[in-house]
Amino acid sequence: MHYRGRLSDNQLLSPLVTNDKLLKVNQSTAQLLVKWYLQNKRELPWRSGQDPYRIWISEVMLQQTTVTAVIPYYERFLTRFPTVQSLAKASQGEVLEYWAGLGYYSRARNLHKASQTLAVNGFPKTFEELIELPGFGPYTARAVSSLAFGQRTGVLDGNVIRVLSRYLGKKVEWWKPQGRNELQTITDQLVEKENPSDLNQGLMELGATICTPSRPACLLCPWSKDCVARKTDRISELPLSKPKRDRELWIWEPSIQKRGSKVAVLENTYAPFLKGHLIWPGAAKKVSKAPKFFAFKGTVTHHDIFVVPVKRSIVGAKNKKLIKWLEQSELRKEIPSSLIRKVLDFT
Ligand code: ADE
Repeated sequence: MHYRGRLSDNQLLSPLVTNDKLLKVNQSTAQLLVKWYLQNKRELPWRSGQDPYRIWISEVMLQQTTVTAVIPYYERFLTRFPTVQSLAKASQGEVLEYWAGLGYYSRARNLHKASQTLAVNGFPKTFEELIELPGFGPYTARAVSSLAFGQRTGVLDGNVIRVLSRYLGKKVEWWKPQGRNELQTITDQLVEKENPSDLNQGLMELGATICTPSRPACLLCPWSKDCVARKTDRISELPLSKPKRDRELWIWEPSIQKRGSKVAVLENTYAPFLKGHLIWPGAAKKVSKAPKFFAFKGTVTHHDIFVVPVKRSIVGAKNKKLIKWLEQSELRKEIPSSLIRKVLDFT
């Protein structure tokens, strides 16, 4: 998805019209939500102030897992890297170590990269400047600019998509740019009316605690009176589910090569899964059915990976130069993915 979070002028100026019906997202809608949020919000470690660094780290962590799961990682990370300067000074290996368990390691690499710019230049306040930084997509740029700096940019994440699809009673194809823009227009209009931090966090909090995927607690919802999905009994149909990508089967033949206490690794360009990660040299091929013999199976996004470690050395000529020799004691730090490390157990 190449959506960059920008709206055309046309969209910014249009009234809230969808399906020729005026949508009921008005001042009292925003007011009701913020009032509810202020009375019901959870006390969370990143909600105690407006430090952009603390907010940024929490928002990146929260993109992959729930609040409850994030808290211990967040506390540990912030204790070790309390400021953007301390993060910038750390080695990438150490940052990955403190990220281990959260997954999506490219997020940690980008976090580290962005910290080096931020430590020198400070945090910019606007969406337009933030989105230029490594790892800042539309969501993070909008969240940091509104939560830390009070900018009027609405956020859109899975929780917000669910809340708005239901409230509007609308089958929005949110995975397509047009659907996203439609919802984004609405959150941008909502933040016009109230404190952007409270409004955005209220939307997300409502999705996380009340308007849950199954069995939402509508009786406690500040928006229940006007919720179209509720009135038309279509809560379980909304939001629409993103059509699933077909799964792909892959045979991965990693080749473990040792020299004393060191092992050969390279940045992955040969397999479509775990792109850019340090992995073993080897080969990957797409297959139409599962092989009979394999050491173990892993999954990464829509890839089912049958791992067949090989003894012979497989390094394409062009990859030879890319080989790095790593101390085995450094592996945990440099290769946080357990799928990759697990290969060693079978050689
Ligand atoms: N999900 C992601 N960021 C959040 C926040 N600040 N509050 C509630 N839920 C969230």
